[in-house]
Amino acid sequence: MELYVDTADLTQIREAVALGILDGVTTNPSIIAKQKRPFRETIGGIAELVPAPGKVWCEVIGTDADTMVAEAKEMQAWAPRVVVKLPMGAEGVKAASRLSKEGIETNMTLVYSVPQAIIAAKAGVAYVSPYLGRVDDAGWSGEALIGDIVQAYKDLGLSTKVIAASIRGPRQVLDMFRVGVDAVTMAYPVLEAMLNHPMTEIGLNRFLQDWQDAGI
Ligand code: E4P
Repeated sequence: MELYVDTADLTQIREAVALGILDGVTTNPSIIAKQKRPFRETIGGIAELVPAPGKVWCEVIGTDADTMVAEAKEMQAWAPRVVVKLPMGAEGVKAASRLSKEGIETNMTLVYSVPQAIIAAKAGVAYVSPYLGRVDDAGWSGEALIGDIVQAYKDLGLSTKVIAASIRGPRQVLDMFRVGVDAVTMAYPVLEAMLNHPMTEIGLNRFLQDWQDAGI
């Protein structure tokens, strides 16, 4: 079971890494854009915070296979353990096929159907990122889609890992592990919501108050 945090905010990443439970950081162009810093600088800053063997997922911006392949190779030189995300589609699949033949680890993102996931796996990607929350937002069942992808990979003997993305809360994290994904990525507030519970806080405050009242 792999757990990633979905952010480029260095303060959030520092806090998440300090928990000692993280397998890496995922980003996408919108997440990077929020930092309003040069792309390479942002990824370099993240990589400095993520200890080995943690991965730093970094999505290409190019829209044709040649540009994607060139960007992927350039990004790998930016920092250790940078792993390339490619958008699903003909150009992303062409790039994934070329990069996997060169032993370069990739993650096919923006996956919204089982056929897409099967093609991505055949192209040799290490991970696929189906978007749970956005499927739900559109009125379909993200859980059903991702469960079908997991089942299809098992039926076809495909080794590509499924990292559930676009997760809106702790309940969805549990649902994803129940359907058998290999990994989840979530915004930092979702990770915090997994960590915290009001009853824990009430209980701890009660302990500390009793201790103080006893005067020992
Ligand atoms: C992975 O990094 C995905 O891009 C991300 O989880 C999407 O999440 P969102 O649907 O909340 O933007």
